[in-house]
Amino acid sequence: MIDAEATAVADGILERYKRRTKRTREQMERAKRVLPAGHTRGSTQYPPYATHLHSGSGCYIQDCDGNRYLDLLNNQTSLIHGHAHPAITSAITEQMQQGTVFGSPTEPLIRLAETICDRTPGIDQILFNNSGTEATIMALRTARAYTGRERIIKMDGGYHGLHDAVLVNMKADHAATDGPRPRFTLPGIPQAHKGQSLIAPFNDLTAIATLFERHPGEIAAVIVEPIPNAGGIILPQEGYLAGLKEITKQHGALLIFDEVATYRLGRGGYQEVSGVIPDLTALAKIIGGGYPIGALGGRQEVMDLYDPARVEKPQEPLYVSGTYHGNVISMIAGQVAMEHYEEPEVQRINRLGDMLKDGIQACGEELGLRVQATGYGSLVRVHWQDEPIIDIAQATRGDRNAQDIIELFHLELLNRGILAAPGEKFCLSTPMTEKEIDHALAEIAETFQTLLPYVRGKHPELIV
Ligand SMILES: Cc1ncc(COP(=O)(O)O)c(C=O)c1O
Repeated sequence: MIDAEATAVADGILERYKRRTKRTREQMERAKRVLPAGHTRGSTQYPPYATHLHSGSGCYIQDCDGNRYLDLLNNQTSLIHGHAHPAITSAITEQMQQGTVFGSPTEPLIRLAETICDRTPGIDQILFNNSGTEATIMALRTARAYTGRERIIKMDGGYHGLHDAVLVNMKADHAATDGPRPRFTLPGIPQAHKGQSLIAPFNDLTAIATLFERHPGEIAAVIVEPIPNAGGIILPQEGYLAGLKEITKQHGALLIFDEVATYRLGRGGYQEVSGVIPDLTALAKIIGGGYPIGALGGRQEVMDLYDPARVEKPQEPLYVSGTYHGNVISMIAGQVAMEHYEEPEVQRINRLGDMLKDGIQACGEELGLRVQATGYGSLVRVHWQDEPIIDIAQATRGDRNAQDIIELFHLELLNRGILAAPGEKFCLSTPMTEKEIDHALAEIAETFQTLLPYVRGKHPELIV
């Protein structure tokens, strides 16, 4: 009986989703003929098929069936000001009439560089590229050149983009009993990378120290998101980031913060919030104001490796180039986005994020669900487990256990006009006010209520 009730809940959610997305479904079939699996980004896919979105304004977005959503996805955390921000749109429209890219340094390039160097404690100089992937490729290469070493340490389950060196342990090695080992499970990664990437659990300084002891003089850098975003929006424990800084310094290695997602959390990124200043910082997403961008920033002495005038022969300077690096559209959009994201706005949307997180937590508790909300400021995540979450493997175990609930939760939110990331991740934007958060919380509460019989039937372990 309980099982039948659970199945009816799941069927009902799926049925409603299909009913309200008929055109989307047709689009998906069309897309599958010319795009493998019908898409070009794995992160935007979910069963039974992804919503096809086509226009947005502020924090609202519309799909091709005419359904309207409150956008708590914000293109995977990149749209700090939501869609079609008037000041950004107007600035780039004006520029577009005068060209988009010139193959030379430009005033907007210098201005955005000044803006980011000025607000970010760990960035004296910066180089722009097109994506977070490029930013972390350059970060690792720079650290290797600076130290003359090849190995790197990354976190088990840490995500840093699409390149070979960081596609090791993209999912946390939850089966390991003696600490995580490097696992190259994705096809197409050359053998040469195996052995170069060492793995540690997030929030575990002993593991980092042990790797440095086992590989003396061989490790170029530790790369870490100060708050792993894809890994579960897990907070660093007291002293963890400072400990990373100390250990890397002690061993002559560099500390790289991947702030592609977390830069939004403080005016100068999460490094400013935490007070721990990395040697190198990878940026992307919000600094492009909705246009393609990435950047590598760092302290002067390290960035000097890119300046032929400062590199002593016979050493060669590091090479950087890219046809669209520094294109004026991304530079101008990024500049306007940053000008509209000063301390009061950062604090305001961080408070709204806290309101969302606390509201979700209270709602889960009220319903007797073993669920918790984690996050910092404008990034919030739901986890189907109630033990404090320390590392990414633990978050992944909870996700695997509750994968069916997570999928239904996401679809039911869509049915109710709330767009979130498929893994129950919520990301805020500046057009939002308390009104939007109250609305989101009301729909999330109704979603929990709808799912209650399902959880009772299929996951009694998640009921208190
Ligand atoms: C922490 C982190 N690093 C790197 C990347 C890769 O950035 P991009 O998708 O711009 O290549 C992402 C993308 O989501 C990210 O979240």
